Amino acid sequence: MEIKPMAPPPGIFIIFGGGGDLTWRKLAPSIYNLFKNQWLSDEFAVIGVDLKPMSDDDYRTRLRQGIETFSGSGKISNADWERFAGHLSYLNGNFDDPNTFERLAAKIKQTETAWGKQAEHVFYQATPPTLVKNILDRLEAAKMVKDRKHCRIVLEKPFGRDLESARTLNKMLLRVFEESQIYRIDHYLGKETVQNILAFRFSNVLFEPIWDRRYIDSVQITVAEDVGVEHRGSYFDHAGIVRDMIQNHLLQVLCLIAMEPMVNFDASEIRNKKVDVLRAIRQIPEGRVDEFAIRGQYGPGTMDGKKALGYRQEPGVSPQSTTETFAAIKLFVDNWRWQDVPFYLRTGKHLPTKLSEVCIQFRPVPHRSFPASALNNWQPNRLIVRIQPDEGIVLSFQAKQPGLQVYLNPVDMRFSYLETYHQAPPEAYETLLLDIMRDDQTLFMRDDQVEAAWSVVMPVLNVWEANDPGDFPNYTVGSWGPQAAEEFILKDGNSWFVSS
Ligand code: BG6
Repeated sequence: MEIKPMAPPPGIFIIFGGGGDLTWRKLAPSIYNLFKNQWLSDEFAVIGVDLKPMSDDDYRTRLRQGIETFSGSGKISNADWERFAGHLSYLNGNFDDPNTFERLAAKIKQTETAWGKQAEHVFYQATPPTLVKNILDRLEAAKMVKDRKHCRIVLEKPFGRDLESARTLNKMLLRVFEESQIYRIDHYLGKETVQNILAFRFSNVLFEPIWDRRYIDSVQITVAEDVGVEHRGSYFDHAGIVRDMIQNHLLQVLCLIAMEPMVNFDASEIRNKKVDVLRAIRQIPEGRVDEFAIRGQYGPGTMDGKKALGYRQEPGVSPQSTTETFAAIKLFVDNWRWQDVPFYLRTGKHLPTKLSEVCIQFRPVPHRSFPASALNNWQPNRLIVRIQPDEGIVLSFQAKQPGLQVYLNPVDMRFSYLETYHQAPPEAYETLLLDIMRDDQTLFMRDDQVEAAWSVVMPVLNVWEANDPGDFPNYTVGSWGPQAAEEFILKDGNSWFVSS
């Protein structure tokens, strides 16, 4: 049974970049599903703000296409659509122009007057990061963010390009807002399976006592994608996979695996515990980056029997690009719990499959009392957290294979979301958007968290930017990355794990 808390208070969602891809693919479909499943109050409005001239009706038609394609709800009946479409409107204007903001303020006021209520104002930046400053300045000049109790701002990643620019951006935001009004999105934190890491660790008595260096040998976090950079070449070529994935998604997952138990479920308590992990990560010395990090870039190949372009041939990418599309990084968390346990992070574009998972590799038993002949297929325990697809958790352990001889085999104990709950978990954005409306910051990144995450990756970024990789492209589309990534983990006596 689903337990629904109270609907969020009346809210106006102002999306800068409301005509763009993110709104079309993610935000509008998620808002629609929240509406359909009655998570929203009747008093909610979405105002898309963007450059392109469009009427309200054109805007609604465009969003309907996006919703029918991406929400998982399929075709919407006209009656259902009418009920929803009335909550959507569009304002065409330049983000530089004070008049845009005057008209926006008037529209917000008009909506509140019609409701007879004060609403929460959520300013969502679904624009390229370069526009954030402009929008902030204009909002401030139009006195639209004066009321600190009823305003929130939402920022998509990338949050800065490096530690310095993230600090500048934080300062800029904190001049206008309080930290409690700022929602920095990392959509991985909205994934059901990622949220479940805390439930799994801290609502069961079995795992926490063995969740440390005495029992855990190593941890692997893999986020693999089968697609390349698709239509995002010009963004990606200035970012690279470390900025795009490791600085945020993979480090956030690492924090949840490595953090200490929280005292309660308050946003600040959980965020404090996560930031402790980031601060404990051993700094990679710039002179030894090669020992801790491997980079790769895909060259042409075939994917599902079809020819696929190499990264340098992708639209928007420089033909001499040295941007990495694959990275593997080894980190250590210097504290009592994790001292000397390697955390291997690996992510890449155009790998053989789409898969995100965490592999907790336990240590071998201290003494093998079984006859050597029983141990041919022996393997220490493993716990796999499947983030996506086939969401679930798998614990593998040794069992005696039935038969007249003693022979041990690894077997699996499985929890599958689909088998247990008979439905796929909700889209991460639904959770995150509802949390923003309810004013719950638990799943969002705080200023110090973002900066601490940048500090972890800065040595790698600095060294890679200063030194030509020399061997790019060094893996073909559809492979598991460069050969060097295999050797990198093998020399520690480990190997990469991929669920079958
Ligand atoms: C985004 C990255 O944050 O995450 C993309 O910018 C990447 O490059 C995407 O493709 C992956 O998200 P998911 O939810 O499909 O694993």
